[in-house]
Amino acid sequence: MAPHALTDLHDVSGYFPSTAHKAWSQPPAYPKNPKAPLIEPVLNAKIALGNLGFGSESPKNVWNLSSDEISEIEKNVRYFLSLNLPLSAINQTSFPLTSALTSKLRGIVGTVYGEQQFFILSGLDPYRYSDFQNVIIHAGLSSHVGSKRGMGGRTGRHNAVIQHITAMPVDRNAPVGQYHGPPSQNQDIPFHTDNGDIVSLFALSRSKSGGSFYLADSTAVYNELAAFHPELAQCLCRNWTMISPSPSGTFDTRPIAFPNHFPGRVLINCSRARITGTPSAPRPASLPALTSIQRRALDALHYTATKHATKIQLEPGDMVFFNNLSMMHARDAFVDNEAAGLKRHLLRLIIRNDEAAYELPEQLRDTWRDLYEHEVEEEEFPVQKELFAFACSH
Ligand SMILES: [Fe+2]
Repeated sequence: MAPHALTDLHDVSGYFPSTAHKAWSQPPAYPKNPKAPLIEPVLNAKIALGNLGFGSESPKNVWNLSSDEISEIEKNVRYFLSLNLPLSAINQTSFPLTSALTSKLRGIVGTVYGEQQFFILSGLDPYRYSDFQNVIIHAGLSSHVGSKRGMGGRTGRHNAVIQHITAMPVDRNAPVGQYHGPPSQNQDIPFHTDNGDIVSLFALSRSKSGGSFYLADSTAVYNELAAFHPELAQCLCRNWTMISPSPSGTFDTRPIAFPNHFPGRVLINCSRARITGTPSAPRPASLPALTSIQRRALDALHYTATKHATKIQLEPGDMVFFNNLSMMHARDAFVDNEAAGLKRHLLRLIIRNDEAAYELPEQLRDTWRDLYEHEVEEEEFPVQKELFAFACSH
């Protein structure tokens, strides 16, 4: 079941799509606006659509690690630990792999920037390792896919490159205003993008039920909107005032959709937290309120993405890499049973491969500069789970 909107009663921010806007995503239900100039759909990028369940099938963008490959990864963890270096020093030199494994990991780059746009490494058993070792594995393998890590941020500090996506209890003694957003709760998260080129998620453990993860090809989503609701597609291409991710900033102004920037592909950058705010951190009244067409366009993006979604049931040990500029993502609500060891917990890394990266639209460059331009020594790796910061896009 694709992610759906929670009841509007729970959310006045607009972070969760309004069910009232669902009809906008149904092509036959709403006529084209004949006065709106048509935005030509971009030629579709091919992507495997449908449900991707793991088990008997093995699609070409899933790599089941062999026992020899897992042994090599474990050897590298021991090697890195022997160097007695900070986690920020994890790179291709301090986490060296055999040329065969290195070239397979580099193959992920071609997949993520190519037609498939996502890749899953499967077969690791995170329960065999400590929290610290799991972070080393994630950062170590990712360093062979992306040459740079993005500082996604953390509560009160900006330098964290690892984020934890897991439900956390409300701390009644927490400072007033501490952010406890959707990634730190167990509710649905609607289709959105993070900031950054490639997002990597490493599943450490799973929930008792629910929590499916979804990816949708942004080009397919945009094309459908451009064909059936051109006024909404146009709206996505105009400037939006967004809440700034920068601790010092107040707002950004830029489009959500960038058609025709990259041949054959539409780039979408749509952190709903940045646009609507979230139930616990609504959009500041100092910013211009979203117009009704903006709200319809934003929600139509979500509802259209649900129709193009690939469902991925992440199992512990799965490490997914996806092109965050060309795919949107979402997840279902879930239920944990912590006493039984069933607690959904993912690590998130934002990475970038300078050689393969798309040339960015001008309007995204400041945000990307904040993410990626820093000294490696400044990077922080919160190993223990902590709240997902508002500064991290979602
Ligand atoms: Fe996200």
